Amino acid sequence: MRVLVTAGPTREFIDPVRFISNRSSGKMGYAVARAARDRGHEVVLISGPVAARQPPHGVRLVPVVTAAEMLAAVESNLDWCDALLMSAAVADWRPADLSDRKLKKADRLAELRLEPTADILLTIAPRKGSRTFVGFAAETHNLLSEARRKLDRKGLDAIVANDVSRSDAGFDVETNQVVLVTKDGLAQEWPLMSKAAVAERLVAWVETSRGVTASPGKPVPAGLDGAPADGRLTRQMDFIREIDKLKCVFRRTLLMDGSRYENDAEHSWHLAVMAVLLKEYANEPNLDLEQVIKLVLVHDLVEIDAGDTYCYDVAGHLDKAAREQAAADRIFALLPGDQGAVIRRLWEEFEERETPEARFAAALDRVQPLLHNYFTGGQIWAKHGIGSEQVRERNQHVEDGSRALWNYAESLIREAVKQGFLKP
Ligand code: PMT
Repeated sequence: MRVLVTAGPTREFIDPVRFISNRSSGKMGYAVARAARDRGHEVVLISGPVAARQPPHGVRLVPVVTAAEMLAAVESNLDWCDALLMSAAVADWRPADLSDRKLKKADRLAELRLEPTADILLTIAPRKGSRTFVGFAAETHNLLSEARRKLDRKGLDAIVANDVSRSDAGFDVETNQVVLVTKDGLAQEWPLMSKAAVAERLVAWVETSRGVTASPGKPVPAGLDGAPADGRLTRQMDFIREIDKLKCVFRRTLLMDGSRYENDAEHSWHLAVMAVLLKEYANEPNLDLEQVIKLVLVHDLVEIDAGDTYCYDVAGHLDKAAREQAAADRIFALLPGDQGAVIRRLWEEFEERETPEARFAAALDRVQPLLHNYFTGGQIWAKHGIGSEQVRERNQHVEDGSRALWNYAESLIREAVKQGFLKP
């Protein structure tokens, strides 16, 4: 596919040194360009002024500054492309009068007269033909209705609805949480992910909608020395590559230094280390440690598709099981049949919590976020208005795997209340 991507803000000048613009960093658009390139497509990236306007290797960069320049660049690359992904935050207005010299305070500019810029998507709509056009909608209110309105008005195939009032999504952050609204009226809510992961899913959606397959640059070679010729190793490598995505599924837990959200792969690794260290506190004296480690390594893999459901999110839990079953069907089927069945069984054992190993693994899965919440001063509890009774109720089953760890968790909860960062 030939993919045209726009990124970053535009600048609309008042005089040679002053302009109107917005907070777009270009991170989302550059991530889309990288994802399209990594999936084997030709990419042209039209970028407004952003801090590091370095084109991703292999991508042709067209630098622009104003909305008018961006329109001209889109128009001249339109015939070439099969798909246009418009993630740029194009300024909607520009000063009606541009001073060719720097205005002085003494000029006493009483008011700034603005005029609308051309709407790029609307302008090029008549030339769409069979191309796929995807817009982005940056909204602070009425996310879905506004996104649908823009999708219809601009004649798009899909629009990425972006709630930019969130601190972990939208402008100038590494993560994004979006809803993909398609022209058939469907809305897919995607979990909080890195912008790279959002971009990859988006490009995959474009491929599917156009009936195109990705052809990434470095496929796993078939028939390596010593590898069986039945494709077994290729399927195992495909799975290993797929689960790399777990590193882009973000949890609602801050790292203990509070610097950013933790991802699912980091969480799973932490549980594995805890299992090794804390085995002596399991209720079951003859615990199979290797089995516990396998359970915790596998337990969140389905979140690659299903996303992380925040443990106090009541609505999210209503369809969690269905989302995770569908994810399990897809992800574990990537492996050769015998291994897929074993890994799926591990995931089911963890979910069922019927074996001592699963109960201990589940205890660790609850204690670890408790530690994170405690050591970050309860920021996430406060953000979601969580109180100590909810925390106790949600974590009670720690006791089934380890009474000692439950006592420890209880003392953390009491201390958090005492310190004032968990509501009594
Ligand atoms: O760059 P980042 O810091 O990573 O932030 C990413 C982002 C928040 C900028 C991005 O995810 C996003 O939401 N981009 C769209 C921002 C925007 O301008 O939205 P809008 O709702 O105003 O516009 C709707 C669509 O029309 C967009 O695809 C936009 O590119 C397009 N548009 C807007 C104005 C205009 N004059 N011409 C256009 O074509």
